Amino acid sequence: MTWMLTGGAGYIGAHVLRALQASGRQVVVVDDLSTGHAEVVPEGVPFVRADVRDTDTLARVMTEHGVVGVVHLAAKKAVGESVEQPLRYYRENVDGVLALAEAMVDAGVSRIVYSSSAAVYGAVDVDLVTEELPTQPVSPYGETKLIGEWVFRDAAVAHGFAVTALRYFNVAGAGSDDLGDSAVFNLIPMVMRAHARGDRPQIFGADYPTPDGTCIRDYIHVADLADAHVAAAAALETGAPGFTSYNIGRGEGSSVREVIASVAAAIGTDLHAEVVGRRPGDPAVLVASADRAAAELGWTATRDLDAMTGSAWSAFRARSHG
Ligand code: UFG
Repeated sequence: MTWMLTGGAGYIGAHVLRALQASGRQVVVVDDLSTGHAEVVPEGVPFVRADVRDTDTLARVMTEHGVVGVVHLAAKKAVGESVEQPLRYYRENVDGVLALAEAMVDAGVSRIVYSSSAAVYGAVDVDLVTEELPTQPVSPYGETKLIGEWVFRDAAVAHGFAVTALRYFNVAGAGSDDLGDSAVFNLIPMVMRAHARGDRPQIFGADYPTPDGTCIRDYIHVADLADAHVAAAAALETGAPGFTSYNIGRGEGSSVREVIASVAAAIGTDLHAEVVGRRPGDPAVLVASADRAAAELGWTATRDLDAMTGSAWSAFRARSHG
């Protein structure tokens, strides 16, 4: 079985690629290398450098490789940047989904695992987020991810697509030292970078209505996330047409202070964080109920926060010294 992986040269894509291979599947990667790195695509894996909005190329790749399904990761994903450049996010993320869906129709491919995000929920006011919660994104990024879900949901009805949308919570960690996240804006990389510079890590607000006053998130190891894609692909190979969304998290929240303490333990030092002002748009608590994925995909996360910070730090060091 061959799956086409868009964005397969990126941080998450590289992990999904390896997990699909380990499950015995063949993979063909499409990536424009705007943020990805060709080196992370293993030798022997067909790689096509192309824009995900290039319908003809996508359809040709699917036909030439006898693709049975698509894992669609290629997208822009920085929340703050999406507020500053909404048109670019709509152009790249929404056009990418449309071009891919059209190419799938052209090539007669109907299975898709779509990378969605907890950002589709917006600012929630519940302890555990279930998939039934109304979607009210508060950033252009979240809006584009939700529009992508709608496109594939409607294509399921009209074109018989079998669609699994995975709503990622806070992805962290590395499956190996060569596959760390080089993104600048997330908490764990920010803390490690501040430490490497000799600066104090910053806490964006300690006056939230949480036990220690800092925001709580559901951190999920990228290797667990990759396994969720394999479970989704396997279910689609035998499943019926339709659309289902799944939260991909651990169902367990960690505060910013707890994450910083875990990074400090991984480094083997004390980190004296400095509390600064709140970052606009941050909900106090965002934790997944991952029950649907457990019940229907047979997937649950197995790696804890220390495994995430430990592997992230190890990959960070390898990159700094490499
Ligand atoms: N934070 C700090 N200091 C930092 C960086 C972050 O205190 O230096 C805090 C943030 O304020 C937030 C928490 O750490 O409370 C996590 O922040 P991240 O930027 O790591 O992650 P977000 O929860 O903001 O966003 C993540 C993904 C998005 C996704 C969103 C879904 O990065 O792609 O979850 O809710 F859309």
